Amino acid sequence: METSPAFTHVVRVPGRVNLIGEHTDYQGGLCLPIAIERRTRVHFSASATDATTLRSEQFPGDARVEPHTNLDTYDGPAWGRAIIAVTIALTERGHRFAPITGAIDSTVPLGSGLSSSAALNVALALAMTNAAGAPITGTELALVAQRAEHVSGVPCGIMDQMACVHGRANHALLLDCSDLSVLPIAMPAGVAVIVVHSGLPRALADSAYAERRAAVEDAAARLGVPTLRTAALNHVVDDPYAHHVVSENLRVTQFVEAAGAGDTSRMGMLLDESHASLADDFMVSTPELDVLTDLLRSEGAFGARLTGAGFGGCVIALSDQRAAEGIAQRAAERYRSHTNLQPTPFVTTATDGAMVTETSR
Ligand code: GLA
Repeated sequence: METSPAFTHVVRVPGRVNLIGEHTDYQGGLCLPIAIERRTRVHFSASATDATTLRSEQFPGDARVEPHTNLDTYDGPAWGRAIIAVTIALTERGHRFAPITGAIDSTVPLGSGLSSSAALNVALALAMTNAAGAPITGTELALVAQRAEHVSGVPCGIMDQMACVHGRANHALLLDCSDLSVLPIAMPAGVAVIVVHSGLPRALADSAYAERRAAVEDAAARLGVPTLRTAALNHVVDDPYAHHVVSENLRVTQFVEAAGAGDTSRMGMLLDESHASLADDFMVSTPELDVLTDLLRSEGAFGARLTGAGFGGCVIALSDQRAAEGIAQRAAERYRSHTNLQPTPFVTTATDGAMVTETSR
């Protein structure tokens, strides 16, 4: 569906991968995501009634949400619950919005750790505020989308939504989650980002994520600091979870320095160290993700690591642009015969974040 002349506007919101800085955002830490070429679009017009009605190009069933519909009474397709969560978040944060009618199409695979849900929430919030003539942008848009996740019971940090909103072509985003500042970081020329979905569903991700988050909040409380951002490495030597968070913040800073110097082997080494820390200290990797990152390295990537929450989903690797497709395909093939899982590799560059445009009619 390239254009949808039936509707007046289209919102386009990318998914994301995180280059480095994992499980740091909810502890006021540093992370370095990029917005990717996979994207969610909502083609929409202001609704002629007070109901929002949307269909999905990927999934059957229309979602219809009236002003009185709530999360308990809604009985449409599951993805439509996001409409209610977003309207709650917009109301709480004092934004004007209006019901829309439209269609969603997405190339961000669901539940794969590429922020399909953040992209949908950002897209809906931007569409519904645009329909009221008061579109919200930037970090406020990200905060609304994050609040919608929390309303839905997902205790996520702010990284995914910030990446979807602030994405910049050819740049990674240095997010400082202690003050929500964003610094675009140019990636060295000729470096490609390889993403491989492991074919492993993120079965444990939700419960384990909440557990890890609670554990590092406890660690910060024991140290008497608001977040682990201000903790030093020698304060957390006996706590592997906290050790991961504190050491990962340091790796983000080192990675940004290495990127500035065009030092791709150092960048790769830091990806590998991040993966080891997520596997050994934070314990969110799986044998499959370990194998996949090893294969990417042995096929010639500068370095590789799991990306996102862990427990399945995607890994990323950095490599020379010209070698990227070959590395991705060979590693995926070896992984398939090793695990019997079906991996999905693709090569991406960093793209721009959320935008809304008028469709020519
Ligand atoms: C998920 C969350 C993010 C972040 C990552 C781990 O993607 O939505 O907020 O915490 O996990 O870095």
